[in-house]
Amino acid sequence: MTVELGMPRRRAPDGPGADPRATDRPEGLPGLVDRYGRVATDMRLSLTDKCNLRCSYCMPADGLPWLQKDALLSAEEIARVVGIGVRLLGVRELRLTGGEPLVRADLADIIAALRAAHPHLPIALTTNAVGLDKRAAELRSAGLTRINISLDTLHPETFAQLTRRPFFDRVLAGIEAADAAGLGPIKINSVLMRGINDADAPDLLAWCLERGYELRFIEQMPLDADHGWTRQGMVTAAEVRGLLGSRFQLSPDPRAREGAPAERFEVRPLHYGGQGGGLLGTVGIIASVTEPFCADCKRTRITAEGKVMSCLFSHEEVDLRGLLRSGASDEQVAQRWQEAMWLKPKAHGMDHTGLGADGFVQPDRSMSAIGG
Ligand code: GTP
Ligand code: 5AD
Ligand code: SF4
Repeated sequence: MTVELGMPRRRAPDGPGADPRATDRPEGLPGLVDRYGRVATDMRLSLTDKCNLRCSYCMPADGLPWLQKDALLSAEEIARVVGIGVRLLGVRELRLTGGEPLVRADLADIIAALRAAHPHLPIALTTNAVGLDKRAAELRSAGLTRINISLDTLHPETFAQLTRRPFFDRVLAGIEAADAAGLGPIKINSVLMRGINDADAPDLLAWCLERGYELRFIEQMPLDADHGWTRQGMVTAAEVRGLLGSRFQLSPDPRAREGAPAERFEVRPLHYGGQGGGLLGTVGIIASVTEPFCADCKRTRITAEGKVMSCLFSHEEVDLRGLLRSGASDEQVAQRWQEAMWLKPKAHGMDHTGLGADGFVQPDRSMSAIGG
């Protein structure tokens, strides 16, 4: 959703040489609005930078220097920040991310506190599902609404190659437990890597359709800590449609997209000729690089150490933790958050010829240190 601000504004300060800190945010403007009229209502909060996998498109083999425990927002600080988002800034849905959020021992307590304070807030979790088999029921009872799980292949060896950990069976057990606990609709996130798991795409879709899971293929983004991303190496959304088209018939899902990263397609058997009917399910394609959706973005991100990132690709980060720990009022925290979001870039700028060619510079943070 976009809004017209209805008031005069100076030219947005993101041209070459412009000072990105220059702000003309009108006083008293409610919510998390940016200079382009987008309103962020979808809050994504990272609970930790740590992870127990080492997916090559995200983490280096040796991991990263993890944040110290006292650098992370505490359960109380998390409850306060979410409360500020919901009560003062118009946040309507929450996603808990990582790193890997299950690594946090107090995850169920965090969810229970959020649920008690916000009985109607949709609270979702993005996880790799390692260890979820033992915790899904507890998370559901604590008040978790639904879950998205990463799974890139159905082959244990390929899984081990991609994630550098032999945990395929644990992930499958985690997915089954989430399903049994009622954490659906379950969405599966899959990143295809050329020559490694791209050929698995149709099998993965068939597997998800059989179980009623919604599969989404995500274009690999330049958010890997190894800085190994290349545009040529990335499997594009168009290629994904081609790969799936060898086994299924895809047609655009008529439901409104509403700013979601995934473009959804209805899936039918390849030679289905009837009108309507024949529907096997849907598949999503998240074409962050080749078909960006920045114009409709409604996301605001808080990192595990309490920094606002207005975009996955922000180079600017605005600290809230210092305010939270220095006796600032909720209104002061809210104002800092609003200022950070006001400067959200118009678009990520990586949808042209390649890294660097159009001024795109990969952010320092990897996906694991931002949250998905
Ligand atoms: P639901 O569909 O509501 O479950 O949420 P979602 O699609 O946002 O789910 P999820 O958190 O699993 O996001 C899926 C993936 O989409 C993320 O891991 C990112 O790879 C990508 N994504 C999400 N938000 C953004 C964004 O703001 N910009 C870009 N470029 N990619 C995003
Ligand atoms: N590009 C695209 N998606 C990524 N993820 C992690 N790193 C990348 C990347 N470089 C996805 C994971 C997970 C979610 C949190 O982010 O597959 O589903
Ligand atoms: Fe961990 Fe997710 Fe990064 Fe894989 S993509 S290393 S599961 S944070």
